[in-house]
Amino acid sequence: MPAETRARWRGDRYRTAAGRGWSCEKIRNVIAQTAESAFVRACRRQPVPYTPVWFMRQAGRSLPEYRAARAGTGMLEACATPDLVTEITLQPVRRYGVDAAILFSDIVVPLRAVGVGVDIRPGVGPVVDQPIRLQADVQRLRALEPDDVRFLTEAIGALVAELGDKPLIGFAGGPFTLACYLIDGGPSKSFDKTKSMMYGNPQLWHALLDRLTDITISFLRVQVAAGASAIQLFDSWAGTVGPDDYRQAVLPHSRRIFEALADTGVPRIHFGVGTGELLGLMGEAGAEVVGVDWRVPLDEAVRRVEPGKALQGNLDPAVLLAPWDVVAQRATDVLNRGRTAEAHIFNLGHGVLPETDPDVLARLTELVHTESARVPH
Ligand code: CP3
Repeated sequence: MPAETRARWRGDRYRTAAGRGWSCEKIRNVIAQTAESAFVRACRRQPVPYTPVWFMRQAGRSLPEYRAARAGTGMLEACATPDLVTEITLQPVRRYGVDAAILFSDIVVPLRAVGVGVDIRPGVGPVVDQPIRLQADVQRLRALEPDDVRFLTEAIGALVAELGDKPLIGFAGGPFTLACYLIDGGPSKSFDKTKSMMYGNPQLWHALLDRLTDITISFLRVQVAAGASAIQLFDSWAGTVGPDDYRQAVLPHSRRIFEALADTGVPRIHFGVGTGELLGLMGEAGAEVVGVDWRVPLDEAVRRVEPGKALQGNLDPAVLLAPWDVVAQRATDVLNRGRTAEAHIFNLGHGVLPETDPDVLARLTELVHTESARVPH
């Protein structure tokens, strides 16, 4: 990593900008400005003129303009460069006409910001230098201070000015999913080392998840303070555990995150992959919106999640690789099933696949808007 980026990660350049922090009044203005958007209204289960839509991983490798903007810049270096974060976050909004932007960042950004040796390898994902295995490793994980991520405050400030009444979604990884990378040391199919700590050393497990929870709360609060109008907790790999273990080992920490964000008033979204058996428990963690992957039809998800929640999802991202008439038929089916929910935000069941044709995403956004406007939610 170049010296300049190292300095940025330490916050050197941004400490001087501390006075530029947004006032409470400005934050209230941002929240008020986006409150009438279809996305925020659907999160709050208020009537909407059409079903709002955005796509997980909408910014990224499926866009040629993303590849051009990122050329020669490492992923984590890009995440710490406000101008790049702003540009890449806006690219899918311009291209697809989606109803919300999601901050260009990554779930490992707060870990890097507190000094964890983690990098993102192209085509691999996050890789950790020294995986966490012992009490001493956990004790080394320090708290996250707003100054550690000044680049985010700066990028979000620029973004909300640019986005106007279009909401910006901030996000973080769930403590379980962060623990997966920290303990296993990188991507894995089954995260065996992580689960071996969870089953074999509950005390160490909870100590680690407690610290990750504190880091995540600070990280999300910084994003809301800077102007994010909603937040999503990506507990992507939570589906690797069964309901009893989820309740014991994961839920208390995720619940603490949502509770700590409650006073901000922004809608909270909770998402994981392969979480069909956990949807009820994920709802109990306290978010207003539960994200559903493509394995459980939305009308079935309605039965699994407690009343009083909006649902988000859930077209299989691989459907977008099929001919358009298949995409249209499947997307219409998702919309129809979504009407059985108290409120629905259209999304994919997981992130956009890199080989997806951007024109298909633009066409899909239009289809969701026109089809749902005929029969408003
Ligand atoms: O949705 C968006 O458009 C915002 C951007 C975003 C990224 N990562 C950018 C990114 C979001 C929301 C994430 C979250 C994230 N990161 C998750 C949770 C969501 C999910 O997919 O389940 C997870 C598990 C990670 C960890 C991570 N980072 C993985 C598994 C990878 C992919 C590795 C690869 O190259 O296939 C990354 C890298 C990453 N994060 C890229 C992007 C655009 C690719 C980097 C590149 O362009 O080289």
